[in-house]
Amino acid sequence: MQTKNPLFKEKEIILGVTGSIAAYKVAELIGALKKEEAEVTVMMTESAKRFITPLTLRTISKNYVYHSLFTEEWNISHISLATKGDLILIAPATANIIAKLAAGFADDLLTAVCLSTKAPILIAPAMNSQMYANPILQENIKKLKKSGYRIIPPVSGTLACGEIGEGRLASIEAILKEIKRTFEKSH
Ligand SMILES: Cc1cc2nc3c(=O)[nH]c(=O)nc-3n(C[C@H](O)[C@H](O)[C@H](O)COP(=O)(O)O)c2cc1C
Repeated sequence: MQTKNPLFKEKEIILGVTGSIAAYKVAELIGALKKEEAEVTVMMTESAKRFITPLTLRTISKNYVYHSLFTEEWNISHISLATKGDLILIAPATANIIAKLAAGFADDLLTAVCLSTKAPILIAPAMNSQMYANPILQENIKKLKKSGYRIIPPVSGTLACGEIGEGRLASIEAILKEIKRTFEKSH
């Protein structure tokens, strides 16, 4: 059974969800973070919305779900999210978002928040094992690590495509452990 950790209490976690088949697992991840009494605000890429709906994530997180850089709001969403977050977690993180972050793109809400924040950024990749082993992807991960991003490595197992290999999203326990480690470091 999960024991409550005071490090999470009232912390604002900005959760970036991207277009991976593992996006459905995010509903359970949000539940686990809320159980620890963290505040969770979700931002999604356009592709992520094809895998899980903003309505589902809004209902579970009990917060507005952000998915656009250009909104009718008076405040600038990417700057307000970048400032209010104690931690940014991207789970699942696609090969595409990893490449965009490594190259310094800011052409959607998620990448713009990451470029604008001083908060620690944790990345939990999830993808096909060949994609994960691709030297370009590995080079991008190295680049992100060098810039201070923390990577929560995927695990081996049966992937959605039927292959067996490294690429499954890390477990919720492993993700919570890494968040805890990050909060401890910044205490
Ligand atoms: C059924 C399906 C499953 C996918 N799963 C993954 C995945 O697990 N990891 C990944 O990196 N890309 C995956 N993709 C490809 C991404 O959705 C695609 O690269 C997309 O442009 C990512 O956009 P985003 O990074 O802005 O969310 C999948 C595509 C499809 C059609």
